[in-house]
Amino acid sequence: MDKTEKTTKKEMIKKMKTSAVMALVLAMALGQLTAQENVWDETEAQKKERMAWWTHDRYGMFIHWGLYALPARHEWVQHYERIPAQEYEERYFGQFNPDLYNPKEWAKMAKDAGMKYAVITSKHHEGFTLFDSKFTDYKATNTPYGKDLLKEWVEAFRNEGIKIGFYYSLIDWHHPHFTIDRIHPLRQESDKAYAKLNKGRDMAKYREYLHNQVREILTNYGKVDMLWLDFSYPDGDHGKDKDDWGSMELLKMVRKLQPETIVNNRADLEGVNGGGDFVTPEQFKVPEWPTIDGKKVPWETCQTFSGSWGYHRDENTWKNTKQLLVLLIETVSKGGNLLLNVGPTARGTFDQRAKSSLNNMGDWMKLNGRSIYGCTQAPDEFEAPDHTLFTYNKKTNRLYVHLVDYPMQNFVMKGMKGKIKYAQFLHDASEIKISKPYGHAFDFKLGENDVNLSLPIIKPNVEVPVIELILN
Ligand code: GLC
Repeated sequence: MDKTEKTTKKEMIKKMKTSAVMALVLAMALGQLTAQENVWDETEAQKKERMAWWTHDRYGMFIHWGLYALPARHEWVQHYERIPAQEYEERYFGQFNPDLYNPKEWAKMAKDAGMKYAVITSKHHEGFTLFDSKFTDYKATNTPYGKDLLKEWVEAFRNEGIKIGFYYSLIDWHHPHFTIDRIHPLRQESDKAYAKLNKGRDMAKYREYLHNQVREILTNYGKVDMLWLDFSYPDGDHGKDKDDWGSMELLKMVRKLQPETIVNNRADLEGVNGGGDFVTPEQFKVPEWPTIDGKKVPWETCQTFSGSWGYHRDENTWKNTKQLLVLLIETVSKGGNLLLNVGPTARGTFDQRAKSSLNNMGDWMKLNGRSIYGCTQAPDEFEAPDHTLFTYNKKTNRLYVHLVDYPMQNFVMKGMKGKIKYAQFLHDASEIKISKPYGHAFDFKLGENDVNLSLPIIKPNVEVPVIELILN
């Protein structure tokens, strides 16, 4: 190495050092910025503790109910058919009279289905509130029905021991100051057209309204176990984000009014401590436990029976019981929760199809709930055989094998030698024998570390049979 080369190398190291120092200063400044961005300072352990009931319970009911139950062709009907607020109000508001509404029956159905918590739309995108709000006339108490629907609902569900949650739509297609954006019923084609329509609309005024209403629902109904805010669309033109909602302030207020409440992640506060407790993949099969920065995070998937969330009379795409059960089992097998939606009719009843699905799920849950409540993803050391889903209860050290496709007698579990103390079907506690594989004229050797469970040839009379393995 000659002299000049040496000096350049020295210089380079010097340069690198200065940039490293600069990077550090920048990181510290940024760190401060993000520290300021905290809604609150809660440790991981505190959060885990606060969310313990929820991660244990796993299974809840979503309820989408509003004026859209009357058109009965999707809760986004106002958007799809581009109906101006006034026209929508004129058509439906005066018709809303759910004369058969009996939330005690709803609560009973949720409980019988095995659901442990429930989340109802206090207001959906249409802007109509089920609750008595001081800040609007567009509310249930002013319809022919004339009563606060939320109040009765909360009482009924609490009485059944079901935890309660409120969905609140950040979006509002009725409020005069909510600006027209790309999903609004009055959405436009050009910037100019948007500007023209939005003249005189002031999001600051809407923001205040939204904060006031969230304060109402978190103040007037006692303890609220969950809050479900919906939703932000920050990307692209004519969307809405945390600044439109005033999300930081909003979440700070939420944490102050209901410090125990569990909040979803749709207020556009990703990465902010206290900005949302769990992620919310919706309407698809979640491929694996969702992560943020490589870390597994609490999650809840919300799903419909048939596609739309509000009551839809003519929709014929209802999932069958097995699909619904697999959805629940698979969710828990990846460490998540399932929030399964019902859209009640405008008379206040559950559709017969919803009732029968709930019933069927309840039948299964009564016998097999032990593989759902308190369970999570099984440790990596266990390998699920084809067509099965595992869940695992850490506390009891039991592994649950869900037989999605019922096997033919021999059921081989790899690497389980010496790990099983006792095996039984969960639904009837009947023993499952560990034995040599059965069969004639075959050349089938069990692997050294494998175990064969000897199943009855006939599938037990449960939709998805579960083997409970009590582990050593
Ligand atoms: C979507 C829809 C909405 C529904 C929600 C439930 O965000 O906008 O209609 O309430 O999903 O997660």
